[in-house]
Amino acid sequence: MKTNRIFLVFMLLLSTALISSCRYDILVEPVVPPPNPSDTISFAKTIDPIFNDNSNCVACHNTGGQVPDLTTGHAFNSIMSLGLVNISDPVSSTIYWFPNPDNSENHTWKKYTGIQAQFVLQWIKQGALNN
Ligand code: HEC
Repeated sequence: MKTNRIFLVFMLLLSTALISSCRYDILVEPVVPPPNPSDTISFAKTIDPIFNDNSNCVACHNTGGQVPDLTTGHAFNSIMSLGLVNISDPVSSTIYWFPNPDNSENHTWKKYTGIQAQFVLQWIKQGALNN
C-alpha cells in the first residue's frame, strides 16, 4: 500500500514535469521582433537564413532547380542577375513582393511571414548590399 502511494506520487510528479516541459517548449518558440528601422540588415546574417533555414525557400529554389537559386553562396548573385531587386522603388522588387503575404495573386504555395517581408524590404531600402 505504501509503495503504491509512493509510486502514485512519483507518477504525478513525472506527468507534471512532462506537461510543463511541453508548455515550456511552446513558450520558448522563437519570436522574431520586426526590424528596428535604424538597424543595418545583413544579407548573410538575416536574409540568407530566411531562404535557407528549415529549407523554407531552398526546398524549391536550389541550384539546378527553380530560379532564383536561393542557396547560401548563390542567392545574392541569382537575385541580382535576374533583376529581382528594384532599388529605386523597393516595394516593387520581385524578391519582396512575389512571396509577400499581402500578395494573394502569386506564389500562393509559399509566403514570407509578415516580419520576414519587413526584413527583406528594409534590406532593399538600404541598398540591397551583399553584406
Ligand atoms: C514549393 C516550391 C517553392 C517554394 C518553397 C518557394 N518557391 Fe518561389 N517559386 C516557385 C515556383 C514554381 C516559381 C515560379 C512560378 C511563378 O513564376 O509563378 C517561384 C517563383 C519565385 C519568384 C519569382 C522569380 C521570378 O523570376 O519572377 C520569387 C522571387 C520567389 N519564388 C521567391 C521565393 C521565396 C523568397 C521563397 C521562400 C519564402 C520561395 N520562393 C519558396 C516555387 C517555390
